[in-house]
Amino acid sequence: MKKCLFVLVALIVGCSVRETPEPKQITGNISIIPHPLSIGRLPGEFLLTPDTKIVASDDAGMRLASRLNEELRNNLGFELGMTDDADAADAITFATLPNEAISNPEEYLLRVESEHIRIIGSERGMFYGIQSLVKLLNLESKGTVTIPAAEIYDAPRFRYRGMHLDVSRHFMSVDFVKKYIRLLSQYKFNYFHWHLTDDQGWRIEIKKYPRLTEIGSKRPETVLEKNYHPYIGDRIPVEGFYSQEEIREIVKYAKERYVTIVPEIDLPGHSSAALASYPQFGCKKVYPYRVKTTWGAFPDVYCPTEETFQFIQDVLGEVIDLFPESPYLHIGGDEIIADHWKESAFVQGLKKTENLKTEREVQDWFLQRVESYVRSRGKTIIGWDELLDGKVSASATIMSWRGMEAGIRAAKSHHETIMAPDSFAYFDHPQDQPGNEPLSLGNPVPIEKVYSFEPVATGISHEDAKYILGAEGCVWTEFIRGPKNVEYMAFPRAIALAEVLWSPVAVRNYEDFSDRLAVELLRLDRQIVNYRNPKHAVVSPKSKDHRNRKS
Ligand code: ACM
Repeated sequence: MKKCLFVLVALIVGCSVRETPEPKQITGNISIIPHPLSIGRLPGEFLLTPDTKIVASDDAGMRLASRLNEELRNNLGFELGMTDDADAADAITFATLPNEAISNPEEYLLRVESEHIRIIGSERGMFYGIQSLVKLLNLESKGTVTIPAAEIYDAPRFRYRGMHLDVSRHFMSVDFVKKYIRLLSQYKFNYFHWHLTDDQGWRIEIKKYPRLTEIGSKRPETVLEKNYHPYIGDRIPVEGFYSQEEIREIVKYAKERYVTIVPEIDLPGHSSAALASYPQFGCKKVYPYRVKTTWGAFPDVYCPTEETFQFIQDVLGEVIDLFPESPYLHIGGDEIIADHWKESAFVQGLKKTENLKTEREVQDWFLQRVESYVRSRGKTIIGWDELLDGKVSASATIMSWRGMEAGIRAAKSHHETIMAPDSFAYFDHPQDQPGNEPLSLGNPVPIEKVYSFEPVATGISHEDAKYILGAEGCVWTEFIRGPKNVEYMAFPRAIALAEVLWSPVAVRNYEDFSDRLAVELLRLDRQIVNYRNPKHAVVSPKSKDHRNRKS
Protein backbone atom coordinates (compact mmCIF):
# COMPACT_ATOMS: atom_id res chain seq x y z
CA MET A 1 0.00 0.00 0.00
CA LYS A 2 2.88 2.36 0.67
CA LYS A 3 3.77 1.85 -2.96
CA CYS A 4 0.34 3.30 -3.65
CA LEU A 5 1.26 6.46 -1.77
CA PHE A 6 4.31 6.80 -3.91
CA VAL A 7 2.40 6.28 -7.14
CA LEU A 8 0.06 9.08 -6.14
CA VAL A 9 2.90 11.24 -4.98
CA ALA A 10 4.62 10.66 -8.29
CA LEU A 11 1.51 11.90 -10.07
CA ILE A 12 1.22 14.93 -7.82
CA VAL A 13 4.84 16.01 -7.66
CA GLY A 14 6.18 14.46 -10.82
CA CYS A 15 8.91 12.45 -9.13
CA SER A 16 9.77 8.93 -10.20
CA VAL A 17 7.78 5.98 -8.87
CA ARG A 18 9.73 3.72 -6.59
CA GLU A 19 9.45 1.15 -3.88
CA THR A 20 8.93 2.02 -0.22
CA PRO A 21 12.29 3.31 0.92
CA GLU A 22 14.50 1.50 3.36
CA PRO A 23 15.40 3.53 6.45
CA LYS A 24 18.19 5.85 5.50
CA GLN A 25 19.76 9.00 6.78
CA ILE A 26 21.27 11.24 4.17
CA THR A 27 20.53 14.12 6.44
CA GLY A 28 23.02 16.88 5.54
CA ASN A 29 22.14 19.66 7.96
CA ILE A 30 18.72 18.20 8.78
CA SER A 31 17.88 17.65 12.42
CA ILE A 32 14.49 16.12 13.20
CA ILE A 33 13.29 14.35 16.34
CA PRO A 34 11.81 11.78 16.13
CA HIS A 35 14.09 10.68 13.31
CA PRO A 36 12.06 10.06 10.14
CA LEU A 37 11.97 6.73 8.38
CA SER A 38 13.68 8.09 5.31
CA ILE A 39 15.40 11.39 4.54
CA GLY A 40 16.81 12.16 1.11
CA ARG A 41 18.66 15.44 0.77
CA LEU A 42 17.91 17.30 -2.51
CA PRO A 43 19.93 20.12 -4.07
CA GLY A 44 19.08 23.68 -3.03
CA GLU A 45 16.82 25.21 -0.46
CA PHE A 46 13.43 26.89 -0.12
CA LEU A 47 13.32 30.51 0.95
CA LEU A 48 10.39 31.04 3.32
CA THR A 49 9.26 34.66 3.65
CA PRO A 50 6.09 36.38 4.84
CA ASP A 51 5.07 36.41 1.13
CA THR A 52 5.09 32.62 0.85
CA LYS A 53 1.54 31.29 0.41
CA ILE A 54 -0.29 28.19 1.61
CA VAL A 55 -2.30 26.15 -0.91
CA ALA A 56 -5.13 24.13 0.62
CA SER A 57 -8.00 22.77 -1.44
CA ASP A 58 -10.12 21.05 1.21
CA ASP A 59 -11.20 21.31 4.85
CA ALA A 60 -8.29 19.17 6.04
CA GLY A 61 -5.85 21.48 4.30
CA MET A 62 -7.54 24.54 5.82
CA ARG A 63 -7.29 23.08 9.32
CA LEU A 64 -3.65 22.23 8.75
CA ALA A 65 -2.97 25.73 7.42
CA SER A 66 -4.06 27.03 10.86
CA ARG A 67 -1.72 24.60 12.58
CA LEU A 68 1.19 25.55 10.33
CA ASN A 69 0.53 29.24 10.90
CA GLU A 70 0.41 28.68 14.65
CA GLU A 71 3.87 27.08 14.49
CA LEU A 72 5.24 29.81 12.23
CA ARG A 73 3.86 32.51 14.53
CA ASN A 74 5.49 30.85 17.55
CA ASN A 75 8.81 30.14 15.86
CA LEU A 76 9.23 33.02 13.42
CA GLY A 77 6.74 35.67 14.45
CA PHE A 78 4.74 35.74 11.20
CA GLU A 79 1.94 33.85 9.44
CA LEU A 80 1.34 33.01 5.79
CA GLY A 81 -1.63 33.93 3.60
CA MET A 82 -3.64 31.46 1.51
CA THR A 83 -4.03 31.10 -2.24
CA ASP A 84 -6.35 29.01 -4.44
CA ASP A 85 -3.76 28.83 -7.19
CA ALA A 86 -2.64 25.20 -7.13
CA ASP A 87 0.30 26.05 -9.42
CA ALA A 88 1.57 28.97 -7.34
CA ALA A 89 5.31 29.11 -6.91
CA ASP A 90 6.74 30.06 -3.53
CA ALA A 91 4.01 28.02 -1.83
CA ILE A 92 3.45 25.28 0.71
CA THR A 93 0.78 22.86 -0.55
CA PHE A 94 -1.26 20.43 1.50
CA ALA A 95 -2.43 17.49 -0.64
CA THR A 96 -4.87 15.15 1.09
CA LEU A 97 -4.63 11.60 -0.15
CA PRO A 98 -7.78 9.50 -0.55
CA ASN A 99 -8.19 6.80 2.11
CA GLU A 100 -7.59 4.02 -0.45
CA ALA A 101 -4.11 5.36 -1.09
CA ILE A 102 -3.09 5.23 2.55
CA SER A 103 -1.81 2.14 4.32
CA ASN A 104 -0.94 3.90 7.55
CA PRO A 105 -3.10 6.89 8.53
CA GLU A 106 -0.06 8.50 10.14
CA GLU A 107 2.33 8.36 7.18
CA TYR A 108 3.28 11.45 5.21
CA LEU A 109 5.57 12.67 2.52
CA LEU A 110 7.25 16.05 2.84
CA ARG A 111 9.01 17.30 -0.25
CA VAL A 112 10.93 20.56 -0.06
CA GLU A 113 12.18 21.95 -3.36
CA SER A 114 13.56 25.37 -4.12
CA GLU A 115 10.23 26.60 -5.58
CA HIS A 116 7.72 24.66 -3.58
CA ILE A 117 7.00 22.62 -0.49
CA ARG A 118 4.46 19.81 -0.61
CA ILE A 119 3.03 17.89 2.32
CA ILE A 120 1.10 14.81 1.28
CA GLY A 121 -0.83 12.25 3.31
CA SER A 122 -3.96 11.85 5.40
CA GLU A 123 -4.90 14.85 7.54
CA ARG A 124 -3.14 13.33 10.54
CA GLY A 125 -0.14 12.33 8.44
CA MET A 126 0.16 15.87 7.09
CA PHE A 127 0.07 17.23 10.66
CA TYR A 128 3.17 15.16 11.34
CA GLY A 129 4.61 16.52 8.10
CA ILE A 130 4.15 20.03 9.53
CA GLN A 131 6.00 19.03 12.69
CA SER A 132 8.93 17.80 10.60
CA LEU A 133 8.87 20.93 8.45
CA VAL A 134 8.97 23.15 11.51
CA LYS A 135 12.08 21.32 12.65
CA LEU A 136 13.78 22.27 9.37
CA LEU A 137 13.33 26.00 10.05
CA ASN A 138 16.46 27.87 10.89
CA LEU A 139 15.72 29.03 14.41
CA GLU A 140 18.24 31.82 14.45
CA SER A 141 16.58 33.85 11.72
CA LYS A 142 13.67 36.28 11.82
CA GLY A 143 11.74 37.37 8.72
CA THR A 144 13.46 35.17 6.12
CA VAL A 145 14.20 31.53 6.58
CA THR A 146 15.93 28.95 4.44
CA ILE A 147 14.73 25.36 4.50
CA PRO A 148 17.04 22.67 3.10
CA ALA A 149 15.55 20.86 0.09
CA ALA A 150 14.77 17.26 0.94
CA GLU A 151 12.32 14.45 0.50
CA ILE A 152 11.15 12.91 3.72
CA TYR A 153 8.94 9.86 3.78
CA ASP A 154 7.86 8.96 7.25
CA ALA A 155 5.57 6.68 9.25
CA PRO A 156 5.63 5.64 12.91
CA ARG A 157 6.88 2.34 14.24
CA PHE A 158 4.18 2.09 16.95
CA ARG A 159 0.56 3.12 16.87
CA TYR A 160 0.24 3.98 20.60
CA ARG A 161 2.72 6.71 21.52
CA GLY A 162 1.64 8.03 24.87
CA MET A 163 2.50 10.35 27.69
CA HIS A 164 0.69 10.41 31.00
CA LEU A 165 0.14 13.13 33.59
CA ASP A 166 -1.11 12.67 37.14
CA VAL A 167 -3.19 15.71 38.07
CA SER A 168 -4.62 14.13 41.22
CA ARG A 169 -1.54 14.38 43.42
CA HIS A 170 -0.99 17.94 42.22
CA PHE A 171 -3.56 19.80 40.18
CA MET A 172 -2.32 21.37 36.93
CA SER A 173 -4.09 24.34 35.30
CA VAL A 174 -6.03 24.16 32.03
CA ASP A 175 -3.38 26.33 30.37
CA PHE A 176 -0.59 24.03 31.44
CA VAL A 177 -2.43 20.88 30.34
CA LYS A 178 -2.82 22.50 26.91
CA LYS A 179 0.87 23.42 26.80
CA TYR A 180 1.79 19.84 27.72
CA ILE A 181 -0.45 18.46 24.95
CA ARG A 182 0.98 20.93 22.45
CA LEU A 183 4.51 19.88 23.33
CA LEU A 184 3.60 16.21 23.04
CA SER A 185 2.08 16.75 19.61
CA GLN A 186 5.30 18.38 18.41
CA TYR A 187 7.07 15.06 19.02
CA LYS A 188 4.29 13.09 17.33
CA PHE A 189 2.82 11.54 20.48
CA ASN A 190 -0.77 10.59 19.74
CA TYR A 191 -2.17 9.69 23.18
CA PHE A 192 -2.37 11.70 26.40
CA HIS A 193 -3.27 9.56 29.40
CA TRP A 194 -4.90 11.86 31.93
CA HIS A 195 -4.81 10.43 35.47
CA LEU A 196 -7.78 12.34 36.89
CA THR A 197 -8.57 10.63 40.17
CA ASP A 198 -6.62 9.13 43.04
CA ASP A 199 -6.49 9.08 46.83
CA GLN A 200 -5.21 12.65 47.04
CA GLY A 201 -7.73 14.40 44.78
CA TRP A 202 -10.71 13.95 42.45
CA ARG A 203 -10.26 16.38 39.55
CA ILE A 204 -13.17 15.94 37.12
CA GLU A 205 -16.63 17.46 37.56
CA ILE A 206 -19.38 14.83 37.64
CA LYS A 207 -22.79 16.51 37.45
CA LYS A 208 -24.69 13.73 39.20
CA TYR A 209 -22.27 13.60 42.15
CA PRO A 210 -21.19 17.18 42.99
CA ARG A 211 -19.54 16.20 46.27
CA LEU A 212 -16.79 14.43 44.29
CA THR A 213 -15.37 17.86 43.55
CA GLU A 214 -16.85 19.83 46.48
CA ILE A 215 -15.11 17.47 48.92
CA GLY A 216 -12.86 15.21 46.88
CA SER A 217 -10.88 17.88 45.03
CA LYS A 218 -9.51 19.44 48.23
CA ARG A 219 -6.89 18.46 50.76
CA PRO A 220 -5.76 20.70 53.61
CA GLU A 221 -2.06 20.00 53.18
CA THR A 222 0.55 17.50 51.99
CA VAL A 223 3.18 15.52 53.84
CA LEU A 224 6.38 17.54 53.94
CA GLU A 225 8.97 15.76 51.79
CA LYS A 226 9.10 12.18 53.18
CA ASN A 227 8.21 12.93 56.83
CA TYR A 228 5.74 10.07 57.28
CA HIS A 229 6.80 8.87 60.79
CA PRO A 230 6.34 11.16 62.56
CA TYR A 231 4.04 12.86 60.09
CA ILE A 232 4.79 16.51 59.32
CA GLY A 233 2.39 18.38 57.04
CA ASP A 234 3.33 21.41 54.95
CA ARG A 235 0.09 23.27 55.81
CA ILE A 236 -0.39 24.28 52.18
CA PRO A 237 -3.89 23.44 50.89
CA VAL A 238 -4.11 21.78 47.46
CA GLU A 239 -7.30 21.93 45.43
CA GLY A 240 -8.64 22.20 41.92
CA PHE A 241 -10.72 20.38 39.36
CA TYR A 242 -11.74 20.66 35.72
CA SER A 243 -15.33 21.65 34.97
CA GLN A 244 -16.98 19.65 32.20
CA GLU A 245 -16.74 22.75 30.01
CA GLU A 246 -12.98 22.89 30.60
CA ILE A 247 -12.64 19.19 29.85
CA ARG A 248 -14.45 19.69 26.52
CA GLU A 249 -12.18 22.63 25.74
CA ILE A 250 -9.06 20.53 26.41
CA VAL A 251 -10.40 17.57 24.42
CA LYS A 252 -11.03 19.90 21.46
CA TYR A 253 -7.58 21.45 21.82
CA ALA A 254 -6.00 17.97 21.82
CA LYS A 255 -8.07 16.82 18.85
CA GLU A 256 -6.87 19.81 16.84
CA ARG A 257 -3.36 18.52 17.49
CA TYR A 258 -4.20 14.90 16.69
CA VAL A 259 -3.80 13.81 20.31
CA THR A 260 -6.43 11.49 21.79
CA ILE A 261 -6.99 11.86 25.51
CA VAL A 262 -7.46 8.66 27.51
CA PRO A 263 -9.08 9.55 30.86
CA GLU A 264 -8.29 7.41 33.89
CA ILE A 265 -10.74 6.89 36.75
CA ASP A 266 -8.81 4.66 39.13
CA LEU A 267 -10.80 1.90 40.86
CA PRO A 268 -11.57 -0.06 42.99
CA GLY A 269 -8.52 1.13 44.98
CA HIS A 270 -6.91 4.58 44.94
CA SER A 271 -10.42 5.81 45.74
CA SER A 272 -10.00 7.70 49.03
CA ALA A 273 -11.03 11.06 47.50
CA ALA A 274 -14.24 9.53 46.08
CA LEU A 275 -15.04 7.76 49.35
CA ALA A 276 -14.37 10.90 51.40
CA SER A 277 -17.10 12.47 49.24
CA TYR A 278 -19.53 9.50 49.27
CA PRO A 279 -18.63 7.19 52.19
CA GLN A 280 -21.74 5.08 51.53
CA PHE A 281 -19.83 3.43 48.63
CA GLY A 282 -17.17 2.03 50.98
CA CYS A 283 -17.60 -1.13 53.05
CA LYS A 284 -16.94 0.53 56.44
CA LYS A 285 -19.83 2.16 58.18
CA VAL A 286 -17.61 3.85 60.76
CA TYR A 287 -14.31 4.87 59.21
CA PRO A 288 -12.48 8.17 58.63
CA TYR A 289 -12.58 8.29 54.81
CA ARG A 290 -10.46 11.35 53.94
CA VAL A 291 -8.71 12.86 50.94
CA LYS A 292 -5.20 11.65 51.70
CA THR A 293 -2.26 13.91 52.49
CA THR A 294 0.39 11.17 52.26
CA TRP A 295 1.46 8.83 49.45
CA GLY A 296 1.18 5.09 48.89
CA ALA A 297 -1.65 2.59 48.63
CA PHE A 298 -4.55 2.62 51.11
CA PRO A 299 -7.24 0.11 52.12
CA ASP A 300 -10.04 2.54 51.11
CA VAL A 301 -11.71 0.53 48.34
CA TYR A 302 -15.19 0.65 46.82
CA CYS A 303 -17.59 -1.90 48.29
CA PRO A 304 -19.03 -4.10 45.52
CA THR A 305 -22.70 -3.34 46.26
CA GLU A 306 -25.37 -2.67 43.63
CA GLU A 307 -25.47 0.98 44.81
CA THR A 308 -21.73 1.29 44.19
CA PHE A 309 -22.02 -0.19 40.70
CA GLN A 310 -24.80 2.29 39.91
CA PHE A 311 -22.54 5.12 41.12
CA ILE A 312 -19.58 3.86 39.07
CA GLN A 313 -21.76 3.42 36.00
CA ASP A 314 -23.13 6.97 36.37
CA VAL A 315 -19.64 8.41 36.79
CA LEU A 316 -18.10 6.46 33.92
CA GLY A 317 -21.11 7.30 31.75
CA GLU A 318 -20.44 11.03 32.18
CA VAL A 319 -16.70 10.50 31.61
CA ILE A 320 -17.28 8.51 28.40
CA ASP A 321 -19.56 11.28 27.10
CA LEU A 322 -16.82 13.85 27.70
CA PHE A 323 -14.18 11.94 25.72
CA PRO A 324 -15.99 10.83 22.57
CA GLU A 325 -12.79 10.47 20.54
CA SER A 326 -11.09 8.03 22.89
CA PRO A 327 -11.44 4.34 22.04
CA TYR A 328 -10.28 3.66 25.61
CA LEU A 329 -11.25 4.28 29.20
CA HIS A 330 -8.49 3.60 31.72
CA ILE A 331 -9.97 2.09 34.85
CA GLY A 332 -6.78 1.72 36.91
CA GLY A 333 -7.05 -1.55 38.84
CA ASP A 334 -3.63 -1.15 40.46
CA GLU A 335 -2.39 -1.59 44.04
CA ILE A 336 -5.60 -2.88 45.60
CA ILE A 337 -5.54 -3.61 49.33
CA ALA A 338 -8.48 -5.89 50.16
CA ASP A 339 -8.53 -5.60 53.99
CA HIS A 340 -11.92 -3.85 54.05
CA TRP A 341 -13.40 -6.60 51.88
CA LYS A 342 -12.02 -9.27 54.22
CA GLU A 343 -13.66 -7.54 57.17
CA SER A 344 -16.99 -6.92 55.43
CA ALA A 345 -19.97 -9.20 56.12
CA PHE A 346 -21.46 -8.00 52.82
CA VAL A 347 -18.41 -9.05 50.80
CA GLN A 348 -18.16 -12.40 52.58
CA GLY A 349 -21.84 -13.01 51.72
CA LEU A 350 -21.22 -11.96 48.12
CA LYS A 351 -18.40 -14.48 47.86
CA LYS A 352 -20.86 -17.23 48.76
CA THR A 353 -23.62 -16.11 46.38
CA GLU A 354 -21.25 -15.48 43.47
CA ASN A 355 -19.04 -18.50 44.25
CA LEU A 356 -15.93 -16.37 44.65
CA LYS A 357 -13.21 -18.06 46.70
CA THR A 358 -10.87 -15.19 47.50
CA GLU A 359 -10.78 -11.40 47.66
CA ARG A 360 -8.72 -11.56 44.48
CA GLU A 361 -11.71 -13.21 42.79
CA VAL A 362 -13.92 -10.43 44.18
CA GLN A 363 -11.57 -7.96 42.53
CA ASP A 364 -11.77 -9.76 39.18
CA TRP A 365 -15.56 -9.98 39.43
CA PHE A 366 -15.73 -6.26 40.28
CA LEU A 367 -13.53 -5.26 37.35
CA GLN A 368 -15.35 -7.55 34.93
CA ARG A 369 -18.64 -5.83 35.81
CA VAL A 370 -17.06 -2.45 35.19
CA GLU A 371 -15.51 -3.72 31.96
CA SER A 372 -18.80 -5.05 30.63
CA TYR A 373 -20.44 -1.64 31.20
CA VAL A 374 -17.58 0.18 29.47
CA ARG A 375 -17.74 -2.29 26.58
CA SER A 376 -21.51 -1.74 26.31
CA ARG A 377 -20.68 1.94 25.73
CA GLY A 378 -18.37 1.02 22.85
CA LYS A 379 -15.07 1.55 24.64
CA THR A 380 -12.15 -0.71 25.51
CA ILE A 381 -10.77 -0.69 29.04
CA ILE A 382 -7.11 -0.18 29.76
CA GLY A 383 -5.99 -1.46 33.15
CA TRP A 384 -2.66 -1.55 34.97
CA ASP A 385 -0.90 -4.91 34.84
CA GLU A 386 -2.33 -6.08 38.19
CA LEU A 387 -5.36 -7.13 36.11
CA LEU A 388 -3.29 -9.97 34.69
CA ASP A 389 -2.67 -11.50 38.13
CA GLY A 390 -6.26 -12.73 38.12
CA LYS A 391 -8.98 -13.38 35.57
CA VAL A 392 -9.32 -10.60 33.06
CA SER A 393 -11.53 -10.07 30.05
CA ALA A 394 -9.75 -10.93 26.80
CA SER A 395 -10.66 -7.54 25.38
CA ALA A 396 -8.87 -5.55 28.11
CA THR A 397 -5.74 -3.67 27.10
CA ILE A 398 -2.95 -4.08 29.64
CA MET A 399 -0.61 -1.28 30.65
CA SER A 400 2.57 -2.83 32.02
CA TRP A 401 4.18 -0.71 34.74
CA ARG A 402 5.93 -3.21 37.06
CA GLY A 403 8.81 -3.66 34.66
CA MET A 404 8.56 -5.45 31.32
CA GLU A 405 7.62 -8.90 32.53
CA ALA A 406 3.88 -8.28 32.89
CA GLY A 407 3.78 -6.73 29.44
CA ILE A 408 5.50 -9.76 27.98
CA ARG A 409 2.94 -12.01 29.68
CA ALA A 410 0.11 -9.82 28.40
CA ALA A 411 1.35 -9.91 24.79
CA LYS A 412 1.93 -13.66 24.98
CA SER A 413 -1.65 -14.14 26.16
CA HIS A 414 -2.79 -11.93 23.26
CA HIS A 415 -3.94 -8.92 25.21
CA GLU A 416 -3.25 -5.67 23.46
CA THR A 417 -0.43 -4.23 25.52
CA ILE A 418 1.06 -0.83 26.24
CA MET A 419 4.49 -0.83 27.83
CA ALA A 420 5.03 1.72 30.61
CA PRO A 421 7.76 -0.01 32.66
CA ASP A 422 8.87 1.99 35.69
CA SER A 423 12.49 1.09 34.89
CA PHE A 424 12.44 2.96 31.54
CA ALA A 425 9.32 5.09 31.35
CA TYR A 426 8.54 6.48 34.82
CA PHE A 427 9.57 10.10 34.50
CA ASP A 428 8.80 10.80 38.15
CA HIS A 429 12.00 8.85 38.89
CA PRO A 430 15.17 10.96 39.20
CA GLN A 431 17.31 11.61 36.12
CA ASP A 432 20.55 11.08 38.02
CA GLN A 433 21.58 9.78 41.44
CA PRO A 434 18.90 10.94 43.89
CA GLY A 435 21.31 13.21 45.84
CA ASN A 436 21.89 15.27 42.70
CA GLU A 437 18.27 15.65 41.78
CA PRO A 438 15.07 17.00 43.32
CA LEU A 439 13.21 14.82 45.79
CA SER A 440 11.54 12.02 43.86
CA LEU A 441 10.60 8.34 43.89
CA GLY A 442 12.36 5.22 42.66
CA ASN A 443 15.61 4.38 40.92
CA PRO A 444 17.23 6.77 38.45
CA VAL A 445 15.94 6.71 34.87
CA PRO A 446 18.49 8.82 32.98
CA ILE A 447 17.75 9.93 29.44
CA GLU A 448 20.25 7.43 27.98
CA LYS A 449 18.26 4.67 29.60
CA VAL A 450 14.99 5.98 28.17
CA TYR A 451 16.62 6.07 24.73
CA SER A 452 17.76 2.45 25.11
CA PHE A 453 14.20 1.29 25.85
CA GLU A 454 12.95 -1.46 23.53
CA PRO A 455 9.16 -1.92 23.89
CA VAL A 456 9.23 -5.24 22.07
CA ALA A 457 11.20 -7.12 24.71
CA THR A 458 13.56 -9.89 23.71
CA GLY A 459 11.84 -13.26 23.87
CA ILE A 460 8.61 -12.04 22.30
CA SER A 461 7.83 -13.83 19.07
CA HIS A 462 7.05 -11.94 15.88
CA GLU A 463 3.43 -13.09 16.22
CA ASP A 464 3.07 -11.93 19.85
CA ALA A 465 4.88 -8.64 19.17
CA LYS A 466 1.82 -7.55 17.18
CA TYR A 467 -0.02 -7.18 20.49
CA ILE A 468 2.39 -4.52 21.72
CA LEU A 469 0.67 -1.34 20.62
CA GLY A 470 3.43 0.91 21.86
CA ALA A 471 4.47 2.55 25.09
CA GLU A 472 3.91 5.47 27.38
CA GLY A 473 5.95 7.72 29.67
CA CYS A 474 4.40 8.36 33.09
CA VAL A 475 4.63 11.55 35.13
CA TRP A 476 3.30 10.83 38.62
CA THR A 477 3.22 14.01 40.66
CA GLU A 478 3.62 13.11 44.33
CA PHE A 479 6.81 15.18 44.46
CA ILE A 480 6.11 17.29 41.37
CA ARG A 481 4.22 20.29 42.60
CA GLY A 482 3.52 22.35 39.49
CA PRO A 483 4.08 22.96 35.78
CA LYS A 484 7.76 23.91 35.99
CA ASN A 485 8.45 20.75 37.94
CA VAL A 486 6.53 18.64 35.42
CA GLU A 487 8.52 20.16 32.56
CA TYR A 488 11.78 19.46 34.35
CA MET A 489 10.92 15.79 34.84
CA ALA A 490 9.27 15.17 31.45
CA PHE A 491 11.69 17.00 29.16
CA PRO A 492 13.81 15.97 27.47
CA ARG A 493 13.12 12.37 28.52
CA ALA A 494 9.79 12.46 26.64
CA ILE A 495 11.70 13.50 23.51
CA ALA A 496 13.90 10.40 23.82
CA LEU A 497 10.79 8.26 24.23
CA ALA A 498 9.21 9.91 21.18
CA GLU A 499 12.09 8.66 19.05
CA VAL A 500 11.89 5.16 20.56
CA LEU A 501 8.22 5.02 19.60
CA TRP A 502 8.32 6.61 16.19
CA SER A 503 11.65 5.81 14.54
CA PRO A 504 12.84 2.46 13.17
CA VAL A 505 15.43 0.73 15.35
CA ALA A 506 17.90 0.91 12.45
CA VAL A 507 18.20 4.71 12.61
CA ARG A 508 18.44 5.02 16.38
CA ASN A 509 21.81 6.18 17.66
CA TYR A 510 22.23 7.96 20.98
CA GLU A 511 25.15 10.18 19.94
CA ASP A 512 23.32 11.37 16.87
CA PHE A 513 20.18 11.87 18.99
CA SER A 514 22.16 14.00 21.47
CA ASP A 515 23.34 16.27 18.65
CA ARG A 516 19.79 16.67 17.39
CA LEU A 517 18.56 17.19 20.95
CA ALA A 518 20.86 20.21 21.33
CA VAL A 519 18.91 21.87 18.47
CA GLU A 520 15.64 20.79 20.02
CA LEU A 521 16.48 22.39 23.35
CA LEU A 522 16.67 25.78 21.61
CA ARG A 523 13.14 25.19 20.43
CA LEU A 524 12.09 24.38 24.01
CA ASP A 525 13.81 27.60 25.16
CA ARG A 526 11.62 29.56 22.76
CA GLN A 527 8.56 27.94 24.28
CA ILE A 528 9.80 28.63 27.80
CA VAL A 529 9.99 25.00 28.84
CA ASN A 530 11.88 24.28 32.07
CA TYR A 531 13.60 21.16 30.73
CA ARG A 532 16.59 19.51 32.37
CA ASN A 533 19.60 20.06 30.16
CA PRO A 534 21.54 16.75 30.20
CA LYS A 535 24.76 18.60 29.33
CA HIS A 536 24.46 21.03 32.23
CA ALA A 537 23.49 18.59 34.93
CA VAL A 538 25.35 19.28 38.14
CA VAL A 539 26.88 16.67 40.39
CA SER A 540 26.36 18.69 43.55
CA PRO A 541 25.20 20.51 45.60
CA LYS A 542 22.03 18.75 46.60
CA SER A 543 19.24 20.15 44.53
CA LYS A 544 15.92 20.71 46.18
CA ASP A 545 14.06 22.04 43.22
CA HIS A 546 13.30 21.30 39.61
CA ARG A 547 15.40 23.94 37.97
CA ASN A 548 16.80 24.14 34.49
CA ARG A 549 20.52 23.82 35.11
CA LYS A 550 21.24 26.70 32.78
CA SER A 551 19.29 29.17 34.88
C1 ACM B 1 1.16 2.62 39.36
O1 ACM B 1 2.28 3.19 39.29
N1 ACM B 1 0.62 2.34 40.55
C2 ACM B 1 0.44 2.26 38.17
